[in-house]
Amino acid sequence: MGLDHAATKPHEQLAATLATQMDAVNALIRERMASEHAPRIPEVSAHLVEAGGKRLRPMLTLAAAEMCGYDGPYHVHLAATVEFIHTATLLHDDVVDESGQRRGRPTANILFDNKSSILVGDYLFARSFQLMVETGSMRVLDILANASATIAEGEVLQLTAAQDLATDENIYLKVVRGKTAALFSAATEVGGVIAGAPEEQVRALHEYGDALGIAFQIVDDLLDYGGDASNTGKNIGDDFRERKLTLPVIKAVAKANADERAFWERTIEKGRQQDGDLEHALSLLARHATMEATRQDALAWTAKAKSALALLPASDLRQMLIDLADYVVARVK
Ligand code: IPE
Ligand code: IPE
Ligand code: MG
Ligand code: MG
Repeated sequence: MGLDHAATKPHEQLAATLATQMDAVNALIRERMASEHAPRIPEVSAHLVEAGGKRLRPMLTLAAAEMCGYDGPYHVHLAATVEFIHTATLLHDDVVDESGQRRGRPTANILFDNKSSILVGDYLFARSFQLMVETGSMRVLDILANASATIAEGEVLQLTAAQDLATDENIYLKVVRGKTAALFSAATEVGGVIAGAPEEQVRALHEYGDALGIAFQIVDDLLDYGGDASNTGKNIGDDFRERKLTLPVIKAVAKANADERAFWERTIEKGRQQDGDLEHALSLLARHATMEATRQDALAWTAKAKSALALLPASDLRQMLIDLADYVVARVK
């Protein structure tokens, strides 16, 4: 590591350490997102893939496999698989959320259309299954197939949890564990499995990914209110507009007086939003200090993630994963 070690963010350290393997992952992604027959496919997938993205999930898979001493070729396939699944869910998610911006670019649903986003998402999803089959590991298939079902289930649960002020912290946890943490935990777990790690290490990797993913999504939901679009590359206020009950709002609803409750009923339940409502919502979150309370919850999941790693042998990569857990709460993008 050079002199700027201290200034380097954990995910950048991971990226530097895993650079050679990530180059292989990115090459495999480019190769497999192509299509011989349907030019719309590479247009849409390249638009999203070439915009970058943090590539956190594939790095988790590579790091987990390396930490467990893997020296075969298939962690690259698995890393590409999880990034494909991630990309497919983003294409679908932006249609469902009617989002206009992702990774600092117009979303595919805006630039092309909903049909293209859904169908290319399906294509990438199917490509991810081809990639994981190449590993020849039924156990890996089992984990990633389950995660894929759980992600879809989380997104669907969120549909009915949105616009419903009865949505509480338990339901919220089920949603984020499904839609986000399931892929993080699968990403870390398959790294351990492909390396043939002992069961307790595989379990620890799963637990780390689960807790990290939950913290990650909680912070994503904070950034939707308190972030800066020039950092996140996504529009601020999307969740309020979509009438989603995310943690800062759930906590504010729980503390609402009669007037505040009426505000949430109008904007979230009835969806009758007008100019100034987002600002008023923000003032209610501030009044009840729910952004801070939400951040505390994220920190608790971070601590859980870090303690799970105690079961793995000490190494530079393990330290980077520990630092990554702190970073997901501190991040601005
Ligand atoms: C976005 O994930 C979707 C969520 C689970 C919040 P990332 O923030 O990891 O997206 P990219 O890949 O870096 O754009
Ligand atoms: C992210 O959901 C989870 C999935 C894509 C499955 P969100 O809707 O909360 O994430 P962003 O804010 O659009 O990235
Ligand atoms: Mg979304
Ligand atoms: Mg969504």
